[in-house]
Amino acid sequence: MSRPRTPLVAGNWKMHKGPAEARAFAEELLRQVRNDKGEMTKAGGVEVAVFPPFTALPAVAEVLKGTALSYGGQNCHWESKGAFTGEVAPGFLAELGCRYVLVGHSERRFLFGETDETCRKKLRAAVAADIEPVLCCGETLAEREAGRTFEVIERQLRAALAAPPPPASFTIAYEPVWAIGTGRTASPGQAGEAHRFIREWLSRNLSPEAGERTRLLYGGSVKPDNFGELLKQPDVDGALVGGASLDIASFCGIASSATSYLTGLI
Ligand code: PGA
Repeated sequence: MSRPRTPLVAGNWKMHKGPAEARAFAEELLRQVRNDKGEMTKAGGVEVAVFPPFTALPAVAEVLKGTALSYGGQNCHWESKGAFTGEVAPGFLAELGCRYVLVGHSERRFLFGETDETCRKKLRAAVAADIEPVLCCGETLAEREAGRTFEVIERQLRAALAAPPPPASFTIAYEPVWAIGTGRTASPGQAGEAHRFIREWLSRNLSPEAGERTRLLYGGSVKPDNFGELLKQPDVDGALVGGASLDIASFCGIASSATSYLTGLI
């Protein structure tokens, strides 16, 4: 079955895995998804990426650079250098071969005080450094129960994306906060509806092309046994996976359930 956008299965390791463990995981991941000829067998037609902690990025880069697997940073600063203790510039990630960087993950927003405005600056800085930002958005349980889901998503999108000039290339992860790390996944219908809203917003407010080409990932308690159903939603182009990306079997299980779906097995 052909899809207009290549699905992306991305593992957000959060504050898990130091350099040694991350390197071993990356080596095993390569072994699992490729055959002897280097073809992606377990994850055919799907892009797979990991987001290790900063200190593990060089080890992961050594293993994955030049392969079909991608990697990225979990965060970055918006300046290219300066007196910003503890921060990492997008250019430093680019130097390690990162293809992506997460921007505005809800843990960054709620635990570390990131705002819509810092997300806007980070997103632009990432694009300027040739790194594709993965902008995270999504509502809390209270916001959903108050019927404010779309209003919140729209505010987050508008703040990060609407100021001119529009960023050239980015990915969006819709991650309802109530589904992150809780074992409570959005139903395929809930995810599909939010993704459709986001795609229509992009088409209307950026351009029809942006609506058509931008990949929209779902995140929040994705597991091998629920991902196939989520991917059946036409506007869901992949997953941002937290807990289930820490275990090689479940992460590969998610990638291969995407491949099975694409080849019409489920
Ligand atoms: P989870 O995390 O899969 O553990 O719910 C997702 C995320 O925070 O990106």
